[in-house]
Amino acid sequence: MMFNSSSPVGDRPGGSGPDTIVTPGGQSLSLDYFVGWGGPLVVQLAKRVFEIVGTDLTGLRVLDVGFGHGQMSCLFALLGAQVVAIDTHQVTLPDAVAEAKRWGVSERIEFTPYSGDPGEIQQTDFDIAFTKSVLLLIPELEVFLRALSTKLRPQGQVAFIENGFHNPLNILGRRIVHWMRRNQDGYYPGVQMYNWYLPAYLSPARINTIRKVFDVRNVLRGESGHWYLIHGINGPN
Ligand SMILES: C[S@@+](CC[C@H](N)C(=O)[O-])C[C@H]1O[C@@H](n2cnc3c(N)ncnc32)[C@H](O)[C@@H]1O
Repeated sequence: MMFNSSSPVGDRPGGSGPDTIVTPGGQSLSLDYFVGWGGPLVVQLAKRVFEIVGTDLTGLRVLDVGFGHGQMSCLFALLGAQVVAIDTHQVTLPDAVAEAKRWGVSERIEFTPYSGDPGEIQQTDFDIAFTKSVLLLIPELEVFLRALSTKLRPQGQVAFIENGFHNPLNILGRRIVHWMRRNQDGYYPGVQMYNWYLPAYLSPARINTIRKVFDVRNVLRGESGHWYLIHGINGPN
């Protein structure tokens, strides 16, 4: 794989820095930039995603679920994929569109706000569905994942980078902070985030739900244990 992770994680969008990912066109990109937030653990898990699915996505169709500010959608497009990026909120849509323009990949990404039900996505036969910090916000996870699986081609892949459980105090603190902010996060103004009724992390039960729907091949934990990468294959389950 085309990675260079010899030096500490930096935040430059391009160049020959740490955790560099090289596009099929030979452009060196900083994975740290596209991961955006979450820190080095998430960068490492994102790196694993591209070790698994490859760095030449030319001709592949990627569904980026919960695109946020659109950086990961742009990365998939820069690696050659045709991307459909969906989110339940429009608040970050202008940023995401601007990001795609900045990278010259507007033609390859369709940013589409939607209802939250993947069954309503018009397109099908995706090769890869990706989430980062989204599944922990979904109340009826199995229903959601089953609808998502109908949009993937047989043997299509899923890669979910999700917040795992760290420690009870941390979880409690996080819930209190979000409750005080009326469940909003400054990075996603107007978007309701975690609440008292949803787990604010991907619990083992939720990981088992993913296993019920997809043929899960890898469950990788970040070093400190509070981020997961779940990789699976779409198939009869
Ligand atoms: C914590 S943010 C993560 C955004 C982005 N993936 C990232 O890592 O920066 C969660 C995102 O999930 C979106 N979201 C919530 N429910 C969703 C659903 N049912 N389908 C798609 N996106 C959803 C939110 O609007 C928000 O943009």
